[in-house]
Amino acid sequence: MKIKKIHLINFRNYVNQEIVFSDNVSLIYGENAQGKTNIIEALYLLSTGKSHRTGNTNELIRYGESFFDIRLEYEDNNYLQNIEIKYEKGNRKRLLINEVKKDRISDLLGVVPSVLFSPESLSCIKGSPRERRKIIDIVLCQVSRKYLYNLQKYNKIVRNKNVLLKEIKKKRHQTQQLDVWNESQAMTGAVIIEERKLLIQSLEKRMKRLMHGISEGREDVTLRYKSFFDEDKNIFNSLLDMMNENKNREIENEISLFGPHRDEIEILLNNRNSRLYCSQGQQRSLALALNIAIMEEIKDRSGKVPVLLLDDVMSELDEKRRNYLYEIIGDKQAVITSTDKTQFRMTVGGISYIRIKNGTVISDSNV
Ligand SMILES: Nc1ncnc2c1ncn2[C@@H]1O[C@H](COP(=O)(O)OP(=O)(O)O)[C@@H](O)[C@H]1O
Ligand SMILES: [Mg+2]
Repeated sequence: MKIKKIHLINFRNYVNQEIVFSDNVSLIYGENAQGKTNIIEALYLLSTGKSHRTGNTNELIRYGESFFDIRLEYEDNNYLQNIEIKYEKGNRKRLLINEVKKDRISDLLGVVPSVLFSPESLSCIKGSPRERRKIIDIVLCQVSRKYLYNLQKYNKIVRNKNVLLKEIKKKRHQTQQLDVWNESQAMTGAVIIEERKLLIQSLEKRMKRLMHGISEGREDVTLRYKSFFDEDKNIFNSLLDMMNENKNREIENEISLFGPHRDEIEILLNNRNSRLYCSQGQQRSLALALNIAIMEEIKDRSGKVPVLLLDDVMSELDEKRRNYLYEIIGDKQAVITSTDKTQFRMTVGGISYIRIKNGTVISDSNV
């Protein structure tokens, strides 16, 4: 699978622009605030259905306009195909794949998988448990329809149960009603936890190998999935017991307190929690290793090599980590942004250069 080109209409600071990508590395360069990250954001949106920068889709519409329309052409199985997202203020995002309307935006998950690495990626190490859950969920949704289905179902159950908890607290509902919700929450939650644990195990193996390479054998990584209950017992039963034993607490707080939406994924370096004890450099290495591990995982599970999106990260990496990254990119497809055209050197494959100025692609001869 290779992405070929993207067409942006009224997206961020783009009026109407087509951008053609290389099958290997496309280096998007230009000064600050010209629209480099906006291209990455559009690609990410077409890959995952969400922006990595905002949850408010209105922000993506060009100032003063009322809609945006973005379209990606990609090649898969020797066929040229396309994904289009149209959004009009006040409506839902609409998705078309090969001109056919889809019911849900999530139908695009896994079609053009991608892995994004940006300065904010450090939050997968430094940030709250929510950030790490989000990353794990995005990976699993890209490779497993079953996971996506269960995650959507689970989130709906939690929302409904929270409404019920409020009602019970106000004495407008009976406590027994909770049993039905607890049972389905535990059932769906258990499937999610199981899938996540399998992924964590696999990512751990990959990260151990990768960190070994990056640190020349000095650093050892451990990933741990942490739930609220005894790890060795059956997940469904443990989750249900937990909820049943804490009914009053949940009613008092008016919120569901246990389950995969509250779990933590711990990343340990040499047995210490990397969130608290790692240097900035170690955290960068970990974030790099995690992203590469995710890329390998998606490739092995889906058979598709994800597109690597590298937003402004080259300048942050030292020579050694940068070389490591070049090696990993190899002959894969990558879209890379940088303010410095010369910063990026590849030994394998070719680079195509795309210069961006004020939301427009300009060719170097016009400079
Ligand atoms: N909805 C929007 N409409 C028009 N311009 C926007 C919109 N959102 C952001 N911008 C502009 O996009 C530019 C930032 O683009 P970005 O891709 O983040 O820059 P960079 O090249 O530094 O990565 C800024 O000039 C900002 O004003
Ligand atoms: Mg940027």
